[in-house]
Amino acid sequence: MTFAAQIITLYPDMFPGPLGASLAGKALKDGKWSYETFQMRDFATDKHRSVDDTPAGGGAGMVLRADILGAAVDAAIAKQPNAPILAMTPRGKPLTQTKVREISGGEGVTILCGRFEGFDERIFENRTIEQVSIGDYILSGGEMAALILLDACIRLLPDVMGHASSGDEESFENGLLEYPHYTRPIEWEGRIIPEVLRSGDHAKIAAWRQGASEAITRSRRPDLWKRHRDVLDSSPSDVRQNNKED
Ligand code: ADE
Repeated sequence: MTFAAQIITLYPDMFPGPLGASLAGKALKDGKWSYETFQMRDFATDKHRSVDDTPAGGGAGMVLRADILGAAVDAAIAKQPNAPILAMTPRGKPLTQTKVREISGGEGVTILCGRFEGFDERIFENRTIEQVSIGDYILSGGEMAALILLDACIRLLPDVMGHASSGDEESFENGLLEYPHYTRPIEWEGRIIPEVLRSGDHAKIAAWRQGASEAITRSRRPDLWKRHRDVLDSSPSDVRQNNKED
């Protein structure tokens, strides 16, 4: 099955962009995913093909018109009625690995890319669209965010990642940041790979990695750490006994 992405944008030339190279590029050539862009201006009704207008109530910038967005979204729905529709916006819910897994497990996705000040809010009232943010910073448009979302989904598609298990232990998959990695040479500029990783004792190595994951998560991402602890606190007591150290 091909994962089919539909992208509604003012800049169709930005696709596939970096997704034409490397892992995603090979998967595209192999037919594991496909994409189609919808030029928002094709749904404009005036001779200037305008898609935006000044904000009601005044203020800076321009707003994408609901009627143009509605027509573009409807064209995408007609082609893929079951695909979830996501709008990329800094006002959206933060994108998570759980959400990425959910999307990549489906048949495809329709992505609406914003520009200017944003979307006329009525598009979200009259169509089922999930607003998604890739982080607390402002990009010049939703296209880069769409590329990031698609990259995260594509690498999870069946037979795309080289090593079948390489996704399971990475950051976020178990609610923690991943442990540090090392490779040869054993010594570099006076720094030596931790002894335990050279011991061949798999149980000890697993315990060291778990400890390192927890320490890194705790110091870099107190928010993830708290959630991890909350999950442990609400799990059965035998699991809790094995995991709780402080
Ligand atoms: N468009 C502009 N900034 C964005 C962000 N942080 N996430 C998603 N879409 C955006």
